[in-house]
Amino acid sequence: MSVELWFIRPYHRRMRFALSGGCRWLAASVAIALGALPAAPALAAESFRAEPTVAAGAIGPGDALFLPAGLAADQLPFSLCFPTPLHVAGQVPADWQLTPRFFRSEHHRRVTLAVPAGTSLYGTGEVTGPLLRNGKAVTLWNTDTPDWQVDQGRRLYQSHPWVLGVRPDGSAFGLIADSTWRAEMDLNSGIEFTSEGPAFPVVIIERSSPQEVLQELAALTGRMPLPPRWALGYQQCRWSYHPDSRVREIAAEFRRRQIPCDVIWMDIHYMDGYRIFTFDPTEFPHPAGLNSYLHQLGFKSVWMIDPGVKAQPGYKIYDSGTAAGVWVHDAQGADYHGDVWPGACVFPDFTRPGTQRWWCSLYGDFMGQGVDGVWNDMNEPAVFGVPSKTMPLDNWHRGGEGLPAGPHIEYHNVYGMLMVKATREGVRAANPEKRPFVLTRANFLGGQRYAATWTGDNASTWKDLKMSIPMSLNLSLSGQPFNGPDLGGFDGAATPELWGQWVGFGAFFPFCRGHAVQGSPPKEPWAFGPEIEQVARTALQRRYRLLPYLYTQFYASSVSGSPIMRPLFFADTHDLALRAEDQAFLVGGDLLVVPKWAQHPHLPRGFGRTLSLVGENSATDHYQADLRIRDGAIIPLGKVVQSTTEESLDPLTLLIALDRSGRAQGELYEDAGDGYGFQSGDYLLSQYEAKQTGRTVTVLATGSGLRARPRRPVAIELITDQGVVRAAGVDGEKIQIALP
Ligand code: GLC
Repeated sequence: MSVELWFIRPYHRRMRFALSGGCRWLAASVAIALGALPAAPALAAESFRAEPTVAAGAIGPGDALFLPAGLAADQLPFSLCFPTPLHVAGQVPADWQLTPRFFRSEHHRRVTLAVPAGTSLYGTGEVTGPLLRNGKAVTLWNTDTPDWQVDQGRRLYQSHPWVLGVRPDGSAFGLIADSTWRAEMDLNSGIEFTSEGPAFPVVIIERSSPQEVLQELAALTGRMPLPPRWALGYQQCRWSYHPDSRVREIAAEFRRRQIPCDVIWMDIHYMDGYRIFTFDPTEFPHPAGLNSYLHQLGFKSVWMIDPGVKAQPGYKIYDSGTAAGVWVHDAQGADYHGDVWPGACVFPDFTRPGTQRWWCSLYGDFMGQGVDGVWNDMNEPAVFGVPSKTMPLDNWHRGGEGLPAGPHIEYHNVYGMLMVKATREGVRAANPEKRPFVLTRANFLGGQRYAATWTGDNASTWKDLKMSIPMSLNLSLSGQPFNGPDLGGFDGAATPELWGQWVGFGAFFPFCRGHAVQGSPPKEPWAFGPEIEQVARTALQRRYRLLPYLYTQFYASSVSGSPIMRPLFFADTHDLALRAEDQAFLVGGDLLVVPKWAQHPHLPRGFGRTLSLVGENSATDHYQADLRIRDGAIIPLGKVVQSTTEESLDPLTLLIALDRSGRAQGELYEDAGDGYGFQSGDYLLSQYEAKQTGRTVTVLATGSGLRARPRRPVAIELITDQGVVRAAGVDGEKIQIALP
């Protein structure tokens, strides 16, 4: 039975709900109208009844689409996690192993998946707690959660309705529940996803390894576009460096002290009264001049833009948005107002194509000031002074061009993602020759298409230091390769010991930025005295030497969808003791990072040799993470530079660790570091191979791409059990190393 319900309140007149065999939507709609949907406790009291599962078809080899009764494969609801609509290409194979079951109750829709015994579960996005998610539950409801305190860390800033399962034999699968509505993801007994929204499709990916599952997740939800190379450098932030003279001081201090750094961040104090797209006339009167000063010193700048627009007639952005009718509506159809930094604000309704265009258009003048990147924060969206910390569930988003109009509870989890989609387009349109860099706090499954992310407001505590690894790993295992924590901790004061330990391993996160809350004691690398300053210098010099390798990993990820930061079990899916190990991590496939504080970590076999990159000895150093190279790998290194604006591959160093058969391989990706020339072949992808014959090791290079191989010296460092054997040669020519 399908019935249309018409309500008296104006916004409800636009809502149409299908009823089939009950009045679940009536209750839900009334609850929406009251601004209070049934909360999680009601869930336990509800009784669920099974619905038939329809195996709708294969959407690719090893991917199957399942639907509950009432949904048809050729009429799927809109999806925001898949950039292109799912297309059924054949039948689900007869020997398909994992079939979800669908249920419904009065207020909820549920899917469950029984997982094979011994399966290790990961993903579910940005989460607190350990890497291994078996027995854990999260709420998918993007939340501004200082110190991750809200609901004891059960919901954070992002939502990823996604689970990765790895069976004991190393084969793996993934489940996507394609719903944007508020939901619970419970991994206590298999996988159970319970949504407050209408029926949703489920995609199961089945592969022989977790690596392949993640590549397919990226194939379906989109890959991270290759960022500009500068975004891989170290970045320094504070809430806030102000006035602009302070920003200059910080930048100059990095150069004076010779601590590598690429980016200085502008937090909210640069704005005029927290009005976005404005500059404080006293403290930041010449943003273009500030940016050009930073550029001269080899820095880039990233500036914050929040979604809340101060509701103040006469303020240009408010006036133009009001004239264009872009704001989110309340239940009565009026512009919704909520408090954020500037006081009462209106919020762009990013579901509207017109709002997307309007938001894009704002970035032209802004980027024209020489701004290099944009930081979108508070985009859960966060609203102050209300218990829910966000806008009412019955606020109304008008949609358009394929996105249906709907209540906030439907669009809340994708508000940040739709915002950064528009931001990215605006930044790209302003500088079409450059690759956009956008950082977002809120996001959704698939959001790696638009922005990098950080894990929000952590604290300068040992707990958060340790948790930064599993958090970034699970985000990486949820399709978001470009992520990292506020290094050193955001909230509170950091002790020298804590900050030194954090930078000692944090230098190797994909996104590497130090940040600090307003009012906290200084947290720049030199703020903790000469010893920790030297620790930071060494750690960041190590990162900068590794940048050629790291950039190659970013390139590989943009092509294959593989995570950059990887859990140790990726090195050996059969070693079950690695499944829960989250005190250490891999960067790409060849580099193992073991923090100094790690207590008896279980490490994968085959990473026998330790690196020294800048003369450090991590065996005796109290802070520097132990870095190990995979047997059989060649890692390309640059020299120590202060920023990515300097030439680093002069010489190119090849760090080689032969495997037992006397062979090693590695890759180096190079391009202009920005722009889109690489898409038409202006890159060089080198494959290096080393092979031992008798007492001689021969290194050969081949390359692809249209970029000519520069004539440059190569320094070889062959790491053997007896020590490092050095040799020199010319890149592209055969190099022979005589073993002692
Ligand atoms: C939020 C952000 C934090 C930022 C602050 C001020 O708390 O998470 O990074 O510094 O707002 O803009």
